[in-house]
This record gives sequence, structure tokens and C-alpha cells, in this order.
Amino acid sequence: MTVVRLEKLRKVFDNRVAAVDDVDLVVNHGEIVAVLGPSGCGKTTLLRLVAGLEEPTSGRIFFDDRDVTWLPTQERNTAMVPQTWALWPHMTVFENVAYGLRVRKKKLKLTEEEIKRRVMETLELVDLVGLEERKPFQLSGGQQQRVALARALVVQPEVLLLDEPLANLDAKLRVELREEVRKIAKRLSITTIYVTHDQEEAMAVADRIAVMNAGRLQQVGKPEEIYHKPANFFVATFVGRSNVLRGRVVEAKGEAAAVDVGFPIAAQTPHRLAPGEEVDVVVRPEDIFIGGGGVKCVVEDVVFLGRYYQTTLRCSGKVLKAEGPRPPAQPGEEVAAEIARAWAFKP
Ligand SMILES: Nc1ncnc2c1ncn2[C@@H]1O[C@H](COP(=O)(O)OP(=O)(O)OP(=O)(O)O)[C@@H](O)[C@H]1O
Ligand SMILES: [Mg+2]
Repeated sequence: MTVVRLEKLRKVFDNRVAAVDDVDLVVNHGEIVAVLGPSGCGKTTLLRLVAGLEEPTSGRIFFDDRDVTWLPTQERNTAMVPQTWALWPHMTVFENVAYGLRVRKKKLKLTEEEIKRRVMETLELVDLVGLEERKPFQLSGGQQQRVALARALVVQPEVLLLDEPLANLDAKLRVELREEVRKIAKRLSITTIYVTHDQEEAMAVADRIAVMNAGRLQQVGKPEEIYHKPANFFVATFVGRSNVLRGRVVEAKGEAAAVDVGFPIAAQTPHRLAPGEEVDVVVRPEDIFIGGGGVKCVVEDVVFLGRYYQTTLRCSGKVLKAEGPRPPAQPGEEVAAEIARAWAFKP
């Protein structure tokens, strides 16, 4: 039963900008939180701080009520699957998985028999029984990834740290394995931090998502909250597909704003806006309904993308991408579009 709590956690490398900047985050017992953000935003550094592989510049880390900020990594009972998961090439699958137990053998007073039992149980969990005598080069990428996961799980960590664990796999395998990782973490009730730059993976794996940019957490919430109530422009455009339109506030009242982007749009906003102010309006393609009335647009192009048709519209000089289950019209035709939802953010 471990709750991970990060308080004002900060890491500055070489007196430059902070790689991790005042991060406050709670990961509840058995919860999976995905840290989602672009390359270089500080995801790996954050995990390494939690694992004790990096010392923070300031801030604190708690596991339940224990302050582990300055505890060495081997005393933390975390397990990390690193971004480039190097297995020991000369060891069999069994020995790769047993490695973490052998290191702790004395401390945990493990017999050879117990090691064998725990390794085999873990291999069963990740569906690798039968392959224990193989070497890593005799495994597929997905199987190697399962070994890396087994190696982390075998030590029965309080906290599981996964750093883009599926990044090296093809798309289909990624989808399969992310479901398995979620299932296993849930079955074992391990408190898990799962780093990814893939928003769909974050949504599929996690109970909550922490969106990160430039060292700072931008928003923490359930996938639905992140998607339907983005806290700022970064979250609105990083998660999901979006159209961005520059416009000017006509009228604002609380969370509602009327914005002129060349045509009128009713938007929600987290900011206090004043008439005349410039804003960036974000509209998701699936929130544009063609034939719904409202804005007059010309269809420029329609393409089929499998799950939906993407229509490029030109509306009062602005280009908008819309998505829908059917092709709405032919290129060149004039249509009316309804924008069901939009957000306005200060630039
Ligand atoms: N040991 C280090 N010394 C100096 N700078 C570092 C060190 N490790 C990371 N950084 C810098 O800190 C920032 C965050 O790096 P980090 O590896 O945490 O990003 P990331 O979000 O994991 O990126 P990616 O998605 O590419 O793995 C980057 O600007 C990086 O160059
Ligand atoms: Mg990284």
C-alpha cells in the first residue's frame, strides 16, 4: 500500500533551466498515472527522481508518510523499466528476471528455491513460460519487453516506474501490450507511474494523466477531464486533434466568451477575458458538424481515413478540418457548419 507524493519537486542540471520544475503530484495506492509530454519535457528525469537515481535540487518525495527524498535507490523498493531496456545479452530469460532477486538475496534471505518460484510466477504473469532458457537475441521485441517488465515486477516493488516501455514496438503490439501492462499493474495493485509521449497510450493505460511541458505539470486529471476540459492552450492542442484560430473577444462572461475569428464562435475559457483581447480558439475536428447551420464554408477537400472522413473547410478565409462518419459534400460545394464546442485561450 503505497501512495507516492511529490512536493515542489525540482531538478536543475548544470545551473541551466529546470528539467523538472516545481512538480506537485500524488499517485494513490494502486493507481496508474501516465506522465504525458513532448520529448525533452522532463519525463525521464521525473521518474529517475522518484527511483532515487537522481537527486532533486529541491522539493520532497514521500512514499506514504516516509520521506524518501534522500534515501538511496536500493532502499526505495521501486522498480523501473528504463526507456532503452537493455536486457543482459549473455543471460537467459530466467537469469535476467532472477537478477534483481539475486542482488537482494542476502537482504531478503531468499533461498535458491524461492528465487526459482518467484521467477516462474512472474514469467507466468507476463506470459513467458517456456522461454526461460532463451537468450534475449532469440526473442521478439515484444517478448524482450515482457522480460523487462518481469525483471521489474519480480522484486515486488511498491512503486513501478515505466519509461516509454513500448516505444520500440510496432503499433499493433503496442496496443496489445499496453492493455496487458494495465491488467498486470491492476491485478498486483502496484502504484505505477507510466511515462509516454503518446496520448492514446496514456489514455488507454492510466487512471489519471499528468500532462507535462517544459518541466512543469500543465494539468492532472482523468482522461475525460484532460480531453474535455483542457486547462490551457498546451493541453488543448497536445491532447487530441485540433484547429487553432486566432480571434478577438467580443464579449466575455465568466467561463463563456463570444469570439470573432472571421465568423462568430462561442467558446469556453479558463481565463478572465475582456472584450477586444486577442485569443487563440481551439476547435476539435469532431466538434464541427457540417449541415448543422451557422457558419458558411466551402468544402476544399474530403479524404477517407478509415474510421472517419476528414473534410477541409474554408470559412471566411479560415481553414478548418472537420471529421465525421460520412463525406458531407463534394469539393467546391458550399455548406453550413456548426461549431458545437470551442475553447479560447490567451496566447
Ligand atoms: N544528466 C543530465 N545532464 C544535463 N541535462 C540533462 C540530463 N538529463 C536530462 N537533461 C536535460 O533535461 C531535460 C529533460 O530531459 P528528460 O530526459 O527528462 O526528457 P524526456 O521528457 O524524458 O524526453 P524524451 O521523451 O525524449 O525521453 C532535457 O533538456 C535534457 O537535455
Ligand atoms: Mg525520456
